[in-house]
Order: sequence, then C-alpha cells, then structure tokens
Amino acid sequence: MTFFKSESGVTPFYDPNKSYAENCEKGPFGGFADGVVYKNEKEPTHDFLGHKVYLPFGIPAGPIPNANFCKGGFEKGFDIIMYKTVRTRPHPCNEFPNIVPVQAGTKLTIEHASAGLTMGKTFKKPIAITNSFGVPSISPKEWIPDMKRAVELAGKGQVLVATYLGTPGNGEEAFIQDWIDGAKMIIETGAPIVELDLSCPNEGKSSLLCHDTERVVKIVKAIQPIFTEKNIPVLIKLSYFSSDKKLKDFIEKVSPYVAGFNAINTIAGDVRTENGEQALPGKGRLISGVCGAPIKWAGVDMVKRMARLRKELSLNFIIIGTGGVTTPADYKEYIQAGADAVMSATGAMWNTDLAKEIKAENL
Ligand SMILES: Cc1cc2nc3c(=O)[nH]c(=O)nc-3n(C[C@H](O)[C@H](O)[C@H](O)COP(=O)(O)O)c2cc1C
Repeated sequence: MTFFKSESGVTPFYDPNKSYAENCEKGPFGGFADGVVYKNEKEPTHDFLGHKVYLPFGIPAGPIPNANFCKGGFEKGFDIIMYKTVRTRPHPCNEFPNIVPVQAGTKLTIEHASAGLTMGKTFKKPIAITNSFGVPSISPKEWIPDMKRAVELAGKGQVLVATYLGTPGNGEEAFIQDWIDGAKMIIETGAPIVELDLSCPNEGKSSLLCHDTERVVKIVKAIQPIFTEKNIPVLIKLSYFSSDKKLKDFIEKVSPYVAGFNAINTIAGDVRTENGEQALPGKGRLISGVCGAPIKWAGVDMVKRMARLRKELSLNFIIIGTGGVTTPADYKEYIQAGADAVMSATGAMWNTDLAKEIKAENL
C-alpha cells in the first residue's frame, strides 16, 4: 500500500493513507478525533450571507465528506463548513491513493503546473498536495439525511454550506436538468447556503466549467429561482482566471444570479513520479488538482481582482478567499485583499487548531 509520512508527525483529520471509503466510514481522524472542543466566547458578530458567525473562516468543500467530519470541524471552531460536493446519483471515487504530496516549491505558477509536477516522498512544509477523487457521491437517499444532520450540527455562530454539481452525460438539456434536480435535493436537506462546484478539474479535465461563461449562465438562470424561493443564497466556486477580460465578462454575466464567488479551487497539472511515470493510477488521472501553501498567491490574486471589479462595476456580491491558508497571517492577507470570508482545506487538514489560532489573533 502507498504510504506517505507527514514529517510533522501529524495525522490529518482526513487521512490520505486510508481509502475514501475508510475515511467516510471511520473518520474523522487526528485532531478532529481528540475530543478537545473549542469554546467560543461572547456573541458572534460577523455577518455571512445573513448568518452571524464568530469568525468568517472555515473549511471549503473537500476534506469534509460527511456529517461526522462536520461535527469535528464545528467543534474545532471552524464556523463555516462546506460539505464535500455531492451529485444527484451515486458516482464512484477514483482509485486509491487520492491525496499525495507534490513538489511545488513555495509558489506554484500556472506555467510551472502546465509544465508538469513531480510527486513528493513525504508531506512536509510548505504543505503541497494533489487531490484526485473524481467528485464521488453516495446516493441522494443517503446524503440527504446525512447533510440534514450536518446542518443541525452547526452550533451558535456557525453555518453549514451545501455544495453540489451536475453530472454531464446525455446532452445539454439533461445536464441542466441534473443541476435543477440537484437543487431540489439540496433544499430537502435544509442547508441555508449552497455553492455550485464549477471548478473541479476532474469534471472537465483541462477545460473547467467555470471557464465557459455561457454555459454557467444557463445553469445559474435555471437554478436561481429554485433557491431564491427558499431564501438560499447561491455561491459559485471558481478556479483561477488568467485573463482579466474573461473574469470581468464572467462576473458581469453571472453575478446577477448569485450571492458571491469563492476562489480558488486547485491548480491543475500533470503529476508524475521521479521516474516520469503517471503518479496516480487509472485513466485520466495524469492531471490532478494541486492545493496547499504554494497556490496562495493565486487565491489572493483572484480576490484582489474580484474586489476591484466589484467596486468598478458597483456590484455587491461577497468574495470568499480560498487557497493556501496555513497561518493566521494568510487569513489576514486574504481579508486585506478584499475577502469577506476565508477558507482552508489543506492547511486545516494538517492543523486542526488553525481556526483557534486565527481567532486568538482576530477576536
Ligand atoms: C481532499 C480535498 C478534496 C477536495 N474536494 C473538493 C470538492 O469536492 N469540491 C470542491 O469544490 N473543491 C474540492 N477541493 C478543493 C478545495 O475546496 C480548495 O478549493 C482547494 O483545496 C484549495 O484550498 P487549500 O489550498 O486550502 O487546500 C478539495 C480539496 C481537498 C484538499
């Protein structure tokens, strides 16, 4: 079995050395299983889409695959938890391993990622991983009640965000219908906020849905009335946009239908072993999404550009900054760049005290 040590000795709350099924069944692990509960004091004062939170900080869609993990995250003081992206139908997980270390240096540029990356031997600082799950989903019959439970697990000053995506297959009309069906299922869970995952590299291989503005407009136009009727704000998860023109066009056309944007997802690149072989087993898995410390620049850059556009176009969407947050200083950098909320996936996995540390400096 593939086994990658963490040089810090930490077992992440989602354990990369265990299969997805084992994580879902027996997790969470590490700090989320130590029984130590963070206690918030005073009253929550930050507004997050109509919900009062202690700190607009949390965990984005990904390492939190079910309600047991949500419980672990809320108990450690992560006030905004996004439940891992679900689908309207069961979908298998890519073959194990799904998370491996990559050698990405301190800053992973788009050019570097496009040229390809080499897998690392251990998980070490600055933490950089590639994740490749294929957006697995259990059946809605199972995830709807589990997400319902997750919604209820949010304590005072905390909120759960549902995330989902449509599955392509039988033509454009069926694809849009799948997004609509998904919206109805999410409503059944009682989730107060939803995020549309338009940026998973496993979905479109090299072409991401979020880079196809016209298609995104079709989706948001179709689902917006369903969520608006229930007063559920819609967020959009974005990848990095290199072109300012494309980003402006996207924001202008999509923002009328949504409450905000969350950037970024991962930076996609080919990942090989030191011998030049495909690192992750299976078809279509040479390319995967890199996340962790070296992608912070890209998240901060997107937040700054979206904040500029928000002002320039006199719009009022919220901006969530995600990517490479591993310290309280990173949180501050995102807030100063214009983020209304900040998320950490990889950083939180390896440091379950991250929310506590950020709160110690900011509350
Ligand atoms: C284990 C793992 C699984 C992920 N799965 C999803 C997912 O299902 N949906 C999604 O929108 N993003 C997913 N992501 C991307 C994260 O939400 C986030 O955008 C990205 O990891 C960058 O943040 P980070 O540098 O803090 O990890 C996943 C990330 C990780 C680490």
